[in-house]
Amino acid sequence: MLRKTSRSWEKYRKSLACLGAGSSTGSKRPSYENIEPAVIVRGRGCRVWDADGNEYIDFRSGIGPVSLGYSNPRVNRAIKNQLKDGIVFGHPNPLEGEVAGILVRNIPCAEKVRFLKTGGEAVAACMKIARAATGRNRIVQCGYNGWLNTLSTGGFMPVGISSSQPLKGVPSQVAALHSTLPWGRAEEWEKMFAVHGSEIAAVVIASAYDEMSMGREFLPAVRDLTRKYGILMVMDEIVTGFRLAIGGAHEYFGIMPDMAVFGKGLANGMPVTVYAGRADLIDMAREIGISSTFGGETLSLAAVKATVEFYREHDVINRLWRTGKVFQDGINSLFSKHGFAAVLKGFPVCPRFIFRENGDRDEFFKNCYRRGVSFYNVPYVTYAHGRKDISETLKRVEMALRDTAGI
Ligand SMILES: Cc1ncc(COP(=O)(O)O)c(C=O)c1O
Repeated sequence: MLRKTSRSWEKYRKSLACLGAGSSTGSKRPSYENIEPAVIVRGRGCRVWDADGNEYIDFRSGIGPVSLGYSNPRVNRAIKNQLKDGIVFGHPNPLEGEVAGILVRNIPCAEKVRFLKTGGEAVAACMKIARAATGRNRIVQCGYNGWLNTLSTGGFMPVGISSSQPLKGVPSQVAALHSTLPWGRAEEWEKMFAVHGSEIAAVVIASAYDEMSMGREFLPAVRDLTRKYGILMVMDEIVTGFRLAIGGAHEYFGIMPDMAVFGKGLANGMPVTVYAGRADLIDMAREIGISSTFGGETLSLAAVKATVEFYREHDVINRLWRTGKVFQDGINSLFSKHGFAAVLKGFPVCPRFIFRENGDRDEFFKNCYRRGVSFYNVPYVTYAHGRKDISETLKRVEMALRDTAGI
């Protein structure tokens, strides 16, 4: 089935003249020329439309933040109502304290919270607090924590950047204070801590999509080790928050970090992040100068409030798990049925496609686009993906697999 995407691509190519690298977000930049929708103009529920008018069942979900579906009426209403009264003010708006209270009641490790705008910024805030609180300088990262990963080699880098490339724009003295350890291998952490434990201010951990179940043993082991060495534990719940559980992996696995950061899922796409944790640590943010003009921006706070209420009233977490399981099982049986060497691995709320090689991924994704399904390495189901949408997706994916096999 041929879909014309020429208008989309024309707009994208035009944007390259003024927009650096064609997108401000590495992972949103289109790569399959004239096949992938290069620009998206509209979204509703679990569907998006490109500039040529093609409709796609979408699993990119804004690369994670859209957890209820595009243009959720309840969240939209909250934003519009707040818009009538203003966006930002020169003093705190009551919503800031009210939403802080809502999050403290919903996130296990949150004795206090503060707001920022991006995940990377929230992680940076926790690193600074941890250094101030411990008087130590070293930071250990695990997984992708935003573009701050570019402070050390060997870790997860933003899409399109090699983890082995020499660090550009980072003074070597700074790079020397940042290192990366692997998910799931507590023995390696213990070995590193035995040598450097007394220099480490914090570990920042993002759970690995395809091996998330290892968190059951790994996270308590790291919690014990960090306590032993006086290291602060920061959970990066930017993806896992509002997906595994409202409180993310630390709620799901029942551990108590010192701080945690939340972002995607929190406000159904509005730009807001939270750093949360022990009251003494979050209170320290002011005295060490963590501050942002837009931290208490009210449209996003109204969206957080509406989103949390919606989650509670509609048991969204349960639905994400249930829908995700039907989707994941369906995709994996199609892979087996068609002898396609790939697997959708991990927890159903944020699994990861694993392909034998990149070429297989490219062929599969391209054919899915051609059949009107928009995937990302981590396909995110939302509250808006109903049973019918999933069965329609599976039918389209089956056609895409036949296309891939040339039958
Ligand atoms: C686990 C995780 N942490 C942090 C970030 C960074 O968030 P942001 O892109 O808002 O800076 C991301 C972004 O994808 C992420 O997936």
